[in-house]
Amino acid sequence: MFEHIERVPGDAILGLIEAFKKDTNPQKVDLGVGVYKDAQGNTPVMRAVKEAEALLLKNETTKTYIGSHGDPRYAEVVLPMVLGQQGSAVLEAKRASATQAPGGTGALRLAADFISAQLPGKGIWVSDPTWPNHHGIFTAAGIKLNKYPYVDAENRLDFSGMLAAVQQIPAGDVIVLHACCHNPTGFDLDRDQWQQILEVVRERNLLPLIDFAYQGFGEGLEEDAYGVRLMAENLDEVIITSSCSKNFGIYCERTGCLIMVAKNQEQMENVRSQVAIVARENYSNPPAHGGAIVSEILHSAELAAIWREELTEMRDRINTLRRDFVAALKPYGLDAKYACVAEQRGMFSYTGLEPQQVDRLRDEFGIYMVRSGRANVAGFSHENLPYLAKAIAAVN
Ligand code: LMR
Repeated sequence: MFEHIERVPGDAILGLIEAFKKDTNPQKVDLGVGVYKDAQGNTPVMRAVKEAEALLLKNETTKTYIGSHGDPRYAEVVLPMVLGQQGSAVLEAKRASATQAPGGTGALRLAADFISAQLPGKGIWVSDPTWPNHHGIFTAAGIKLNKYPYVDAENRLDFSGMLAAVQQIPAGDVIVLHACCHNPTGFDLDRDQWQQILEVVRERNLLPLIDFAYQGFGEGLEEDAYGVRLMAENLDEVIITSSCSKNFGIYCERTGCLIMVAKNQEQMENVRSQVAIVARENYSNPPAHGGAIVSEILHSAELAAIWREELTEMRDRINTLRRDFVAALKPYGLDAKYACVAEQRGMFSYTGLEPQQVDRLRDEFGIYMVRSGRANVAGFSHENLPYLAKAIAAVN
């Protein structure tokens, strides 16, 4: 039965974890998978998370199922985090439903299966480039995947190309947008550009699916939600996939949320009932622990304040490293070439390094990044920047 099954290469991003572990170069640098690292190169458990977990351990009374939509206390805090704390018209009108999911990836798969089952025949449009797993998830759900341009030949945001392409998307199709910290490029839309996209989406009656995996890593928790809130407040229907993996540093707890915004409460309840079926058929109930951590933190003013401070620290550190990376390249005359790294936002930079250069960095210097030239900026440190700069100069 299995004789004809071929071996395939592993996932290009996750594969880097193993390859990096095996490398014996003492100077090796991991700029691969999108996890935050501190100055020592560790991905520590956040203090607010540790405290929340201690409370959970003490107070937990049951491990029973939490239901296909997950814990309502989690939904209670994630909805305002994403859609706005004060006076969100969408929340007041009860147009938004939250379904706890196994990570942002799980939320995306729920969205994909929902689209496939309930909106058959719709195509889906992703930025070129996008997170490679978008391709895998939507294709696996049987949805026809198309691309709109996002980056030009000079490695800059190609907004005019994007806008022109979005104007040609068939009416009624789904458009995937990155709320902030675009993965893999780090190029985000500004407020005026979001407004322009909103106009086209409205004109063509497109359904936005907004991937929101890095809230708090760009400009700030509220600032990063600008595009999401603009779309949700001005359109009848929006799909949002939110993740707490990065901003709470709880990657392995698989903590995400699918938020479905509908025209009114009645339609939201209908949609919600269908999402429960999709969740049931995929994994029944989401894992509870990550959602419980987030809920514990955001229901406590004290823990929430500690968490926000830690998140700000992570964001500031990344933004400082972006500037210092460009400065480290100055002695090699490469600062102008890589100036975009200081302008991009979030964990990733589309550096402009070619696949052959990425290969040389790995083979000759033990520096690991995705072959597209995407670097996880959180992997930079003041210790490794001189080495990185020297290596990049060597492959230029
Ligand atoms: C990444 O792009 O590195 C992260 O989103 C982790 C992943 O699952 O790929």
